[in-house]
Amino acid sequence: MCGIIGYTGHRPAVPLIIEGLRSLEYRGYDSAGVAFIQHKDLVTVRAEGKLANLENKLMGMNVSIATSGMGHTRWATHGIPVERNAHPHMCSDGSLAIIHNGIIENYQPLKNELKALGYTFCSETDTEVLANLIAEGRKQTGALDKGISWALQRVEGAYAVVVYALDMPGVIFGARLSSPFVLGVGQGENFVASDIPAFLPYTRDAVFLENGEMARIEANSWQVLDVKTLEPIEKQVHHIQWDVQAAQKGGYKHFMLKEIFEQPRVITDCMTGRVDWQRKEVSLPELDALPVPRRLHIVACGTSYHAGMWGRHLLENWAQIPVNVEIASEFRYRNPILDPDDVILVISQSGETADTLAGLRIARERGIRVIGLCNVVGSSIARESDTVIYTQAGPEISVASTKAMCSQMTVLTLMALAWGKRKGCLADDILQNAVTGLSKLPGQLEMELPRMRSEAQSIARQYSSARSFFFLGRGQCYPLALEGALKLKEISYIHAEGYASGEMKHGPIALIDPAFPTFALALSDGLYSKVKSNLEEVQARSGKIIALANPGHDLNVDHTWIIPEAWGPLGSFLALPALQLFSYEAADYLGKDVDQPRNLAKSVTVE
Ligand code: F6R
Repeated sequence: MCGIIGYTGHRPAVPLIIEGLRSLEYRGYDSAGVAFIQHKDLVTVRAEGKLANLENKLMGMNVSIATSGMGHTRWATHGIPVERNAHPHMCSDGSLAIIHNGIIENYQPLKNELKALGYTFCSETDTEVLANLIAEGRKQTGALDKGISWALQRVEGAYAVVVYALDMPGVIFGARLSSPFVLGVGQGENFVASDIPAFLPYTRDAVFLENGEMARIEANSWQVLDVKTLEPIEKQVHHIQWDVQAAQKGGYKHFMLKEIFEQPRVITDCMTGRVDWQRKEVSLPELDALPVPRRLHIVACGTSYHAGMWGRHLLENWAQIPVNVEIASEFRYRNPILDPDDVILVISQSGETADTLAGLRIARERGIRVIGLCNVVGSSIARESDTVIYTQAGPEISVASTKAMCSQMTVLTLMALAWGKRKGCLADDILQNAVTGLSKLPGQLEMELPRMRSEAQSIARQYSSARSFFFLGRGQCYPLALEGALKLKEISYIHAEGYASGEMKHGPIALIDPAFPTFALALSDGLYSKVKSNLEEVQARSGKIIALANPGHDLNVDHTWIIPEAWGPLGSFLALPALQLFSYEAADYLGKDVDQPRNLAKSVTVE
């Protein structure tokens, strides 16, 4: 996830671009760069680390003349955060530069082709390939807009790209495919950016680009074109009412809500470059050099631990790998029995959690191979693992983790499929159904989320006076029940316990009374009838029940909350946001500080 801005107008462009990048800071950054034209030169300046490093580099330069340019902050999703990987990237003859957010999946064959044509490369990035491809397109078609169109039709992946050419200093082109992109319409100045806050101090008029659209802006004009045909497209200008802070939250009241709603995109980003939809194949190149583990120990904390518990079912069922899942703070002091062929999988959004890091170090000291599943590139866990797989979820700002779990579940699904296939124990129909199911998930979730939110709102309001809650589930829904309880307690401060539903009668059921409600996961999986009997036991003790169920259920409880079905275990991807939204709505209704709950920190770097 990156922040991008392009500007053309009457103001000094570089300071404006830097301010724009600062307001996109919430998107995370680990390197930044700008490009502008000065004294007939296309200048690029890039720096690793915070934006201040880039500002320091620019300090000695006179940058006040340029009235157009573009800037980029990179939040690495793969490839380490160093200057050579920072944007902008130029084509080899220096005639144009681009910035880019996204992934070009077929960059390697394109690079080979361009090398054969004489293009040279100074980085390993897919962005530099795109810069050269656009230069080649321009050469072949004779015009920059046609060249961009030619190049983008050859590219596979997801992107928002800005193009800036030395011989057209007042013109900025931008195009989008699956990455956010918006045009800001000003007076004698225009903007393109990955998000509205970048230009909000100058204009509140915005045009949202759709996939396959391209913008051409000059100081006094703007146009949106179809990328393929270059035909103009009529667009509506929206007047934005939000302030900068609200805009950073994309108009959502809290980052948590925004991140819950980002989950369809997160699933897509997580699978980008890892699933071949046509051939119905899954590949995780990070795992190619490793043998399939004989036994796997998953070590993590909190929500990441719940993702690990959830993933165990798939790893055992599809890849037939025995899996032990353990809380990192227990694992590190337990003297676990580890065989040299065992593998430790540490899961951590931040990559900095002290207990998880300690578990990783214990394993490494004992010569056990460690795979890290992390979101933050270059984090301690990412650096110290033998192999790292990134979840590619983008920065998570809300203290309560939401989209990170969704991304971890996505990667764990892909790992189970990839290992199962490699081991030869995965039935073909499972692979086919899983890939088809995965391809549908983002769309299904996108459609369902607004409806889910209003259901969550109405139920949460009715139940927010409860002092305690049970969350119950079985099988793969058990870790989801634990997660539902964790979310509710951490942001609404309502006491909540997650239990395996079959365990209720072994003690916890003693607590049930009309004031102690139960939130049950009763999806139409192989364990539905078992969960149903457990709920009847709760009802027999006058317990109130909210049940998350699929169409066609035959429950008779206080509230049934119907969510659509997905193939097999993928139903969990639709249940998870319902749990998150229920907690969110309860906490918001109770007036709690949703994004920064008391006593909690986003990254727990102490024991
Ligand atoms: C809960 C939450 C925590 C984290 C836990 C591990 O909403 O955010 O339980 O999941 O502190 O953090 P990471 O995944 O960064 O290791």
